Amino acid sequence: MKVYVMIGAPGAGKGTQAAILAQRLSLLHVASGDLFRDAVRNGTPLGREARRYMDRGALVPDPVVIGMIEERLDQPDAAAGVILDGFPRTRPQAEALDAALAQRGARVDAALYVGVSEEELIRRLSARWVCRAAGHPYNERSHPPQVPGVCDLDGSQLYQRDDDRPETVRARLAQQLPPMYEVIDYYTTQGVLVAVDGAQPVEAVTEALLSAIAHPARPGRSEAA
Ligand code: AP5
Ligand code: MG
Repeated sequence: MKVYVMIGAPGAGKGTQAAILAQRLSLLHVASGDLFRDAVRNGTPLGREARRYMDRGALVPDPVVIGMIEERLDQPDAAAGVILDGFPRTRPQAEALDAALAQRGARVDAALYVGVSEEELIRRLSARWVCRAAGHPYNERSHPPQVPGVCDLDGSQLYQRDDDRPETVRARLAQQLPPMYEVIDYYTTQGVLVAVDGAQPVEAVTEALLSAIAHPARPGRSEAA
């Protein structure tokens, strides 16, 4: 099982890149935020709990997230491998992921960090639209849909996320960047971190990520498991 982790601040382009990489590498795209948004929409107990945190830009507690992701990893469509988008977001989540993967005979092959300045993050999120069916992201400025308000990929309606309001974006950055840097440190220590410049056009970011995956910094590391 191949496992790639996407790391990046809110709006860095994790979802954009994870969707492309999943297709190019024939892996399953698992986005923790999308799983929570589905649960919120369906009014499940998980959704009700997650919403309390998401609405104020806070992280959902580790045990809730870890349980949800482990369940998802056990579905048959995850057997070949996954691109995790938005998980892990804290050091305890990263440790729990390692333990869960070890039990399944796998490990994180590469942690892909997409770096973008805070100014640009705010610009991107205020202009973002995502689709109802699968959360495919668009941008009024950099990536508009072919037909306004309609997803190019699945035809579903586009909407703006509640947590993309400016005050919630500020809260997300303030609360979520410090734990993200701990996760980056964690994977740096393990020797699996790859950092790419996320300010480049989408296609250039994708090529940088694919080339890093194809030529790991520590040869053999990604083949070992
Ligand atoms: P989540 O849905 O993961 O949100 P996030 O991390 O804040 O990230 P975003 O989805 O906002 O941004 P993205 O990096 O995917 O960027 P995108 O590709 O859309 O999480 C939501 C909430 O759920 C969290 O706040 C938390 O409460 C909870 N949660 C989730 N996971 C959790 C966890 N593990 N632990 C605890 N809580 C958790 O791109 C953004 C915009 O930029 C788009 O408009 C896009 O078109 C545009 N764009 C992308 N790339 C480029 C580019 N290269 N150039 C120009 N524009 C670009
Ligand atoms: Mg996303």
